[in-house]
Amino acid sequence: MNQRVLTGITTTGTPHLGNYVGAIRPAIAASREAGVESFFFLADYHALIKCDDPARIARSRLEIAATWLAAGLDTGRVTFYAQSDIPEITELNWLLTCVTAKGQMNRAHAYKASVDANEAKGVEPDDGVTMGLFCYPILMAADILMFNAHRVPVGRDQVQHIEMARDVAQRFNHQFGAGRELFVLPEAEIEESVATLPGLDGRKMSKSYDNTVPLFEGGAKGLKDAIARVVTDSRLPGEPKDPDSAHLVTLHDAFADAATREAFRRDLVAGLGWGDAKQRVVDLVEAHVGPMRAHYAELMAHPERIEDVLQAGAAKARQTATPFIKELRQAVGLRTMVAVAQPHAQAATEKVALPLIKQYREADGLFYFKLTDAHNHLLLQSTGLADGREAGNWVKRLKTEGDAALAEAPVARAEGVSAEAVTAALAALAALVEATQAADAEKADKAANKAANKAAKASQA
Ligand code: TRP
Repeated sequence: MNQRVLTGITTTGTPHLGNYVGAIRPAIAASREAGVESFFFLADYHALIKCDDPARIARSRLEIAATWLAAGLDTGRVTFYAQSDIPEITELNWLLTCVTAKGQMNRAHAYKASVDANEAKGVEPDDGVTMGLFCYPILMAADILMFNAHRVPVGRDQVQHIEMARDVAQRFNHQFGAGRELFVLPEAEIEESVATLPGLDGRKMSKSYDNTVPLFEGGAKGLKDAIARVVTDSRLPGEPKDPDSAHLVTLHDAFADAATREAFRRDLVAGLGWGDAKQRVVDLVEAHVGPMRAHYAELMAHPERIEDVLQAGAAKARQTATPFIKELRQAVGLRTMVAVAQPHAQAATEKVALPLIKQYREADGLFYFKLTDAHNHLLLQSTGLADGREAGNWVKRLKTEGDAALAEAPVARAEGVSAEAVTAALAALAALVEATQAADAEKADKAANKAANKAAKASQA
């Protein structure tokens, strides 16, 4: 089976080089692997937790979507959508909220960090903490579990959240799965080699440190100006540099092949000046980023194209999400009343044999189907059909429409079989189909008994 890889991008900022190297590039590369089915999405509900400026949210959604597309995301292969376009996610969020222990959320790093900061300031521990922040990991679990992702590429700071998602999934499976694994248990995936790109000052490149190198913003000049501000030591041209202590080298290496890396180190040790070294980094990064920047500008000038891509992605995602949330609603007991209201309890619980329609192919290459009763006696036999789908359609119609489909169907009653016996068997089948569609083991059992009773009566008749 395909490995499903899923990751979300919080839409609060403008993507910088660190986002590109640490998240966007490896995710796109991974999405091209064979046997991988990728889900990438704008975590714009999560963005609302961190940001209450609507203009910034809107701008960031656009910029981040354009960045991923410009960076080469293949939306034919990958399901790319906005979290807020999938209502099933908020629905699942609630189902998961109801099986998540509050105590576990108390231990979430992001929440604890806020509490610690408040305590240090001497204010109420929960000062400024919203329920959104407190429940952040549950929404994230809903993102992941909605699509039964196996692998979740994230930064190190998110590993605890994936563990929480596993935990919640396990509890839900145990409580509502009735022996089935409704949710796959996801695993965090950290790319050690690319996890963090240093910023201008050598700390992790991050908007909160104000040390970022822009990815597209400001054009080629913006890139050059930023790299010129990378902090280096004060060694002069001609003096040997220590490549291992220069974070300019880390920046360089993120865009260089092995031979270029080797040459850069060698030249630094031999006394390459920092100014020249920076120019090399600028050239290297620009060669990589320049072509994407043009594509980015094109997309930003046509936001409606981005919207179309996201809507198509949402429709694709919901092909999975819509039936799955139905199944989950069933599992927790949110079921249609009709199927629940059985007027009389059925006494018999043992499984009884039922009529059956079987489709098969003969040596003549034609497709056939036949209806047998609970005792495996032949009731109806079809003629041979050239098209398997046509045979399948008849089977489906007989199962769901029963007698009504019989007049036109390419079938004949077996010798000695009464029309009533066929009618009864088809009615029993229709009842069973209805019960199966309810997708509820308990209900299906009861309906199967009902069907079996009908079948029993029919064969007594
Ligand atoms: N919380 C993640 C971050 O800040 C973003 C995110 C939201 C996410 N939902 C997700 C990542 C689901 C992986 C899977 O980086």
